[in-house]
Amino acid sequence: MDNFQFYSPTQFLFGKDAETQAGACVRRHGGTRVLLHYGGGSAERSGLLERVRRSLRESDLPFVELGGVQPNPRAELVYEGIRLCREEGIDFILSVGGGSVIDSSKAIAAGVPYDGDFWDFFCATPIDAALPVGTVLTIAAAGSEGSGDMVISKGTWKRGAGSDHLRPRFSVLNPALTCTLPAYQTACGATDIMAHVFERYFTRTPEVEITDRLCEAVLLTMIRETPRVIADPACYDARANIMWAGTVAHTNICGVGRAQDWNSHGIEHELSALYDCAHGAGLAVIMPAWMEFVCPQGVERFAQAAVRVWGCQMDFAHPERTAMEGIRRFRQFLHSIGMPVNFAELGAREEDVDTLVENFGLGSGRTGGFAALSSEDVREILHIAVHAHL
Ligand code: NZQ
Ligand code: ZN
Repeated sequence: MDNFQFYSPTQFLFGKDAETQAGACVRRHGGTRVLLHYGGGSAERSGLLERVRRSLRESDLPFVELGGVQPNPRAELVYEGIRLCREEGIDFILSVGGGSVIDSSKAIAAGVPYDGDFWDFFCATPIDAALPVGTVLTIAAAGSEGSGDMVISKGTWKRGAGSDHLRPRFSVLNPALTCTLPAYQTACGATDIMAHVFERYFTRTPEVEITDRLCEAVLLTMIRETPRVIADPACYDARANIMWAGTVAHTNICGVGRAQDWNSHGIEHELSALYDCAHGAGLAVIMPAWMEFVCPQGVERFAQAAVRVWGCQMDFAHPERTAMEGIRRFRQFLHSIGMPVNFAELGAREEDVDTLVENFGLGSGRTGGFAALSSEDVREILHIAVHAHL
């Protein structure tokens, strides 16, 4: 196990009606003037937004609102949010929504105290300060409610940046809020959660039994609970397990002390930048393709996943067969919950492969903590994804 530091200061309020405490939480974490940031309408329709407004009023907190965050959140709204916060003297941002709203909030939070263009943060400028952010989560997926990361789109770019300053001060996790999700969004979220674990699970760092086992626990939970909520969207207990799994998957408690990969995410971000597809759906197409491509470079680890996560029988004479069977079961699982398995099902085009490789921007370099990929490798993975089938 490698040396590590783990800093995860977020206070989590988990359970039914937890959103009624949002106002008190903002107060507890020092907010006095709030930007209430949300998405395209689901929170208004469900009545959640009104409950959050009431909670802010009950805590005597003045607030201004900025809605309209789109999935794959855009830079334009971030600029508007930064301007609004400065004009209104905002000192706390409360996000009501999923990863897109939370990431938009984080970008605004970092941009307000910064004397320059917030996009600099996505071009390697470090984040030294940010307004505090709190969240009321409505979809178990991105893990942004507990992470220090944000992902923003600008034109055809979709880029990530991170800092501990961006970790939410508190996150309200009420699983009941996720019962209104369409099955497709539920499945996209489940895929993202599993992908966050696999990005960490596939490592070359030896002797990481504790994090291996934590990863496996999250994956086994997702394999058990996702079909339950697809069949019965109102199943609170399954929603609850998935919601906490989504947070555990991405605070990095499953990833400390080990090298991590993240190429599937990097490649997927080019897909959601180009096609505006859901991040989880893009991962469903890319991650099994990445696995097939890199598996020969790490058969032992893939065979371990196949046995411990997918319940495969170990073929000691041919561990590569066990490894490939695990990947096949992963893709089969994704299909069973309604995810696309190839480019056509995602709405992506084979003729865009060169553009996707170019946008990935690797040039002659290499990247990836498990398998160091070249641009040619990325192209091959995309071709596997084009033609993938069950
Ligand atoms: O906008 P509204 O109307 O709220 O609808 C949203 C949106 O259309 C809807 N939705 C959310 N909660 C709902 C609901 N509909 C009904 N009932 C509810 N309770 O779901 C749609 C998707 O929402 P979004 O926030 O985009 O989903 P998600 O949480 O998957 O976030 C995706 C974004 O997070 C980024 C992704 O790249 C993508 O941009 N990621 C952020 C990470 C981070 N900050 O740590 C890590 C991830 O790997 C990921 O890259
Ligand atoms: Zn993700």
